[in-house]
Amino acid sequence: MTSLLKISNVYKEYKIKKDLPVKAVNGISLDVNSGEFIAICGVSGSGKSTLLHLIGGVFKPDSGDINVTDKDGTVYHVEKMNHQDAALYRNKITGYVLQDFGLIPYRSVKENVAVPLYINGESSRNIEKKVNDALQKVGVLELGKRPISKLSGGQKQRVAIARALINDPLIILADEPTGALDSETKRDILLLFRKLADSGKTIIMVTHDTEAAKLCDRIINIKDGKIE
Ligand SMILES: Nc1ncnc2c1ncn2[C@@H]1O[C@H](COP(=O)(O)OP(=O)(O)OP(=O)(O)O)[C@@H](O)[C@H]1O
Ligand SMILES: [Mg+2]
Repeated sequence: MTSLLKISNVYKEYKIKKDLPVKAVNGISLDVNSGEFIAICGVSGSGKSTLLHLIGGVFKPDSGDINVTDKDGTVYHVEKMNHQDAALYRNKITGYVLQDFGLIPYRSVKENVAVPLYINGESSRNIEKKVNDALQKVGVLELGKRPISKLSGGQKQRVAIARALINDPLIILADEPTGALDSETKRDILLLFRKLADSGKTIIMVTHDTEAAKLCDRIINIKDGKIE
């Protein structure tokens, strides 16, 4: 097992004008190996999404280190990245999946999945191939031309997962990915994540749902910004 992500003593607080600062992540350390499927559990407001955003390079910790090591041994020091490096890291190293999908409703499935590739400036032939491969992986290849607004919730989440996979990222970060789905569709999506993890993808999934967490390799419980 190779170490992929190392979080060391990370803190993050939010300051809102006159209010006392909120210590959202309050001294978290965590090691994740390549290929692990991790559940992050905890009550509302415990700091789960904040931790995911820190791993995803959405913002930096106030203190502590977040390091990701790729197959060649290159280390990404997330806590030190400038804007440009952070943008590259978010595009190439991580893939985000959200509860409400975050897709562009009036665009087609293919156009949505291709968004991270447009940012790379890839050729249209490369884009077509990569998009088809990603749609195939999540089982919605036949829906490529359809606008997002004409899909079911489960189909939308499959498209969002295809988009997250498109640059073959080292880590998939999923924040309540089944929160908006009925129980049967939820099961399908969880099994898709399980399949991706079994094929070697590292997945960190925030969930309230103990059933969902049971499918993961390891459960991390968070309370008041700390690991319990
Ligand atoms: N942008 C923000 N500005 C100020 N406070 C925030 C902000 N985002 C989150 N918080 C606060 O930080 C704490 C942790 O929030 P976070 O969103 O990480 O929790 P969570 O575990 O993901 O909760 P939920 O399960 O409801 O999504 C909460 O007290 C929340 O109110
Ligand atoms: Mg949250």
